[in-house]
Amino acid sequence: MRYIGNKENILDTIYEILEKHKITGNTFFDFFAGTTNVGRYFKTKGYKVFSSDILYLSYCLQKAYIENNKTPTFEKLLPTLPTKESNSLFNEPLDIVVNYLNNIQPVEGFIYQNYTPTGTKLLERQRTYFIDDNGKKIDAIRLKIEEWNNSKLINEAEYFILITCLIETIGFYSNIAGVYAAFQKHWDPRALKPLELRTISFIDNKKQNIVFNSDSMELLDKIDVDILYLDPPYNERQYAPNYHILETIAKYDNPEIRGVTGMRDYKSQKSRFCNPTTALEDLDIVAKNAKYKYLVLSYNSEGIMPSDKIQETLKKYGKVKLEQFEYARFKSNNNGLAKTKKTVYEQLYILEK
Ligand SMILES: C[S@@+](CC[C@H](N)C(=O)[O-])C[C@H]1O[C@@H](n2cnc3c(N)ncnc32)[C@H](O)[C@@H]1O
Repeated sequence: MRYIGNKENILDTIYEILEKHKITGNTFFDFFAGTTNVGRYFKTKGYKVFSSDILYLSYCLQKAYIENNKTPTFEKLLPTLPTKESNSLFNEPLDIVVNYLNNIQPVEGFIYQNYTPTGTKLLERQRTYFIDDNGKKIDAIRLKIEEWNNSKLINEAEYFILITCLIETIGFYSNIAGVYAAFQKHWDPRALKPLELRTISFIDNKKQNIVFNSDSMELLDKIDVDILYLDPPYNERQYAPNYHILETIAKYDNPEIRGVTGMRDYKSQKSRFCNPTTALEDLDIVAKNAKYKYLVLSYNSEGIMPSDKIQETLKKYGKVKLEQFEYARFKSNNNGLAKTKKTVYEQLYILEK
């Protein structure tokens, strides 16, 4: 999934560094879970995983990928679906349900009305996040999931699994340059394709994993783990406005929206890690008050907390090591005309209490 700070491509490197420093254990807390890629990886390594994020969209992913260990059976739902789908011997139950959802009647719901060109034709500037048909399909699928949940045809895990399938699918059809804080004027070819809901897969670590949708700072008294992993935002960009449409699709709560991009309110989802002073204050509070053997902080050489201040903060509570590795990426220069390759260092601060 396209997500700022997604660690998917560097998980092996992070794990190798931890192994090199003999940082192991049985329990792992992913304190800023985002896509849940880190938690999923540590599930495959046999850890019992705890995770949290302030965004509800991440909570849905956490329920489906982290808390849930099972491939869904859709025991109650399948017999109610048309025989063609429910009798298939060759497909997994999730394939059958996703196939059914891919063929339901479109609905002109909240996403169509607010984020497609025809739905917003009366606005001064039409919103072109999704083509009309895909907007209607997103509404139809999301409403059907809600209907099945309300009539108890699916259980809680199945509910979050289906929402996660939808969240994971949306990025492949969004007319954006990476985040939802703006839509593109011209259509990206990816957004013109008819939306096809995708399935997801599952990891069973045979442990009771626990997930939260909370400001993680409010969970400090619930934490007692071997590895406490922090991957906070690196800069001033808040996550909630950058992913506002995914948040709305996850909640499907018909929020009041405003502005050119149709942004939902996110006052209660602002992160103190998007400001250098409050980020250092919160880092200090976590390092001091949480119970852990090792605190591992993923950060970045361009982050708003300066490296010396991070080390100063962590050193108050134990032994600190810093590992960094190059992570090349393309970055536009200040006037946005030329693209230059810039090396950024991905950093791991390891605190042993
Ligand atoms: C760098 S991203 C994490 C990326 C994640 N490790 C991954 O691989 O996808 C930071 C995450 O922290 C969340 N966040 C920021 N401040 C938070 C807070 N105080 N409590 C909980 N989550 C927070 C954001 O919503 C965002 O998902």
